[in-house]
Amino acid sequence: MADPAPAHPFLTGNFAPVEGELDATDLAVTGRIPEAIEGVFARIGPNPIDPDPARYHWFLGSGMVHGVWIGGGRAHRYRRRFVRDDHVVARLGGPPVPGPRRDPDIGSGVANTHVIRHAGRILALVEAGNLPVELDDELETVARTDFEGTLRGSFSAHPKRDPRTGELWAATYTPFAEEIGVVVVGTDGRVRRSFGVPVPGRPMVHDCAITEHFLVLFDLPVTLDPTGGSGLPYRWHPEYGARVGLLPREGSAEEVLWAEVEPCFVFHPMNAFEDEGGRVVVDLVRHPRMFDRELRGPSEGSPTLERWTVDPRGGPVKEERLDDRGQEFPRIDERRTGRIHRFGYGTAVGEGLAFGALLKHDLVRGTGEIHHEGPHRAFSEPVFVPAHADAEEDEGFVLATVFDAGSGRSEVVVLDARNFTDEPLARIHLPDRVPFGFHGSFLPAVG
Ligand SMILES: [Fe+2]
Repeated sequence: MADPAPAHPFLTGNFAPVEGELDATDLAVTGRIPEAIEGVFARIGPNPIDPDPARYHWFLGSGMVHGVWIGGGRAHRYRRRFVRDDHVVARLGGPPVPGPRRDPDIGSGVANTHVIRHAGRILALVEAGNLPVELDDELETVARTDFEGTLRGSFSAHPKRDPRTGELWAATYTPFAEEIGVVVVGTDGRVRRSFGVPVPGRPMVHDCAITEHFLVLFDLPVTLDPTGGSGLPYRWHPEYGARVGLLPREGSAEEVLWAEVEPCFVFHPMNAFEDEGGRVVVDLVRHPRMFDRELRGPSEGSPTLERWTVDPRGGPVKEERLDDRGQEFPRIDERRTGRIHRFGYGTAVGEGLAFGALLKHDLVRGTGEIHHEGPHRAFSEPVFVPAHADAEEDEGFVLATVFDAGSGRSEVVVLDARNFTDEPLARIHLPDRVPFGFHGSFLPAVG
């Protein structure tokens, strides 16, 4: 008898989906939740229903959003909901998701990568062609949206909100065009500007960065390639080359300054800014390669924290290693987006995308701190919440879910950012586990 196929690494352990939707109220809390935290901590990730292990890629599972309502020093409730797509509707029933569709339509309307609020709407986001999905305040699916008919192509899971203007800046792509799209969404929730920047292939473009004067684009060697058997038609092609591009913020496609870097892949910049000499500094998590041999999820070599310095006047990119430790999901105090930042937060990852501790970087002192809760406790992406509107950078809280392999459940941990290695201020005990997913936001209470 043949050996059974090895388990799919992104369908086992805490990568495995949870069963169905869930609500819980009056969550148990250890410690004290700061009164300043008032809103919903929302996270999203793939939660596939009946996935085919032979074809499943972690990036493709139907989205599930998890919310924890916090206020008045209490954790009022927890709720998890599928983000409705065609597959979820077919399996669970209910009406089809309203809203526009793309032609050609590359997917089932999946939205699984990030959840943000913009122009008063909560949006579940994804890249490569499926539209954003609007959620209501209860995290129920409302409709797919193309920003009131103003979004012509695809969107991104990682638009950058400019803290000065409130606009969203996104780099987008689809399998159908040799270009990287640029989309700017105004504070009114409508696309103000969009155009394509021609590139010599069809690269995967997960994220971007902004500075005061530039949009930073990544044109890297994971490109369209349906071979390989994975459901995700992108593979490692180092012969494509690797470039970082600086687009003047109100400039045109012809004005992009491209500069070569060593072949690698970047899902996530931490942030970018302009230094005193006008150079663009991009701090990012660099993977040495991606989707070369492992075609089921992102796990090929240790991702490290790097700094690229790009001179808009030309010249080679300076590539420096800031931290050797494996890590992903870099975040900052997002009031610093596009301007100089001192602190960053991330999740430690070991071989096989094994999540572990939380990391905090002090990029001025060149030091790091680690919040570790033992080998059986694995953190997801940290999110910074300022202590108040005028708080200094790093004056606030770091929220993250942690999966406890012993109990099989997750908690939301609230850290004092300035006492990062200390025992958390609070642990919010959830009724089940939150699978390792992608991204999330703290959505402050409004009104
Ligand atoms: Fe991402």
